[in-house]
Amino acid sequence: MTSSASLSSSNRFSRISIIGAGHIGSTLAQILLEKSIADVVLLDIISGWPQGLALDLIEAMAVYRNDRQILGTNDYADTADSDIVVITAGQPRTPGMSRDDLLKINSKTVVDVAKAAIAHSPNAIFIVVTNPLDVMTYLVWETLGVPPERVIGMAGILDAARFQAFIAIELGISVADINALVLGSHGDLMIPLPRYSTINGIPITEIMDQNIISKIVERTRNGGAEIVQLIKTGSAYYAPAASISVMVESILKNQNRLLPCSAYLHQKYGLDKIFLGVPCWLGSQGVREVLEIDLTDAEQAQLINCEQKVRQNIKRAKEMLAM
Ligand code: NAI
Ligand code: 2OP
Repeated sequence: MTSSASLSSSNRFSRISIIGAGHIGSTLAQILLEKSIADVVLLDIISGWPQGLALDLIEAMAVYRNDRQILGTNDYADTADSDIVVITAGQPRTPGMSRDDLLKINSKTVVDVAKAAIAHSPNAIFIVVTNPLDVMTYLVWETLGVPPERVIGMAGILDAARFQAFIAIELGISVADINALVLGSHGDLMIPLPRYSTINGIPITEIMDQNIISKIVERTRNGGAEIVQLIKTGSAYYAPAASISVMVESILKNQNRLLPCSAYLHQKYGLDKIFLGVPCWLGSQGVREVLEIDLTDAEQAQLINCEQKVRQNIKRAKEMLAM
């Protein structure tokens, strides 16, 4: 195990760099190490912070007698040759901060991070987590100039997990049997799809009352805000980190799992040159393919609504970056 030197290059294990060692980044590091999914480089702008967390995690792995390695650093040279770079750097929205303030701060952060990270890991796949998610994913892709299948935003797994959790709580049943689907953009315009959400293959629309489904759909849309309201000083991080770990595992192990992620759309769902949440197969090359499913006219209209909002914010972000 290493805390200040570079990670060992002999017996090379898969390497993940996490940029932003905050709540989500540090929790993700813990999951990846505990499950022996990858070695981890944890990078943050705050001096000493990622180094301290890495040392703590090294000691935690000693408790488990787990030999996975972690390095805490402020230097991008230490992220060299990462298989995957996860971008969790940025700020959550705090009281008094407008959506535009957040858009401006986080756009600059993700663009700077993307440039620095690709310089040391030219072949990496990038997973973007920073909000506003679909806009940041687009900016990272444009900054990197890599094929779009190598840039993926995390949100759909989290939003679907919330939907699944609320169904399980409502019915008092095991979450293991529930598969929910949420598409669109990450935020209040997201599109939970009850008719594609099943309990062991049976759509919830055949099992649950429409009023109850509508309440659960609304709670899912507000899932992030509900947690912010409760914890007040930040946003959710356990479920977001768990969701990223599933994407990382599907890519590193070439599992080709069908997961809802923010992926680049090229002539899919009638849309082009935009990142939005859709089901896609994740394997060793990143997004192997986006799956196009049938949407009703109303659902398609909601997707276009998401697209227009994301496009508007990409435009605003670019204007602010140019200032
Ligand atoms: P946090 O505030 O705990 O951590 C962010 C970390 O980024 C801090 O340690 C900060 O020092 C670091 N950082 C800031 N600028 C940096 C830079 N230029 N280079 C390197 N590190 C930098 O925030 P948390 O809770 O970990 O959330 C991170 C982001 O993820 C936020 O934007 C949040 O809104 C978003 N988020 C996204 C979700 C999704 O579903 N996509 C779900 C939950 C949060
Ligand atoms: C969440 O969904 C705020 O995006 C964050 O928890």
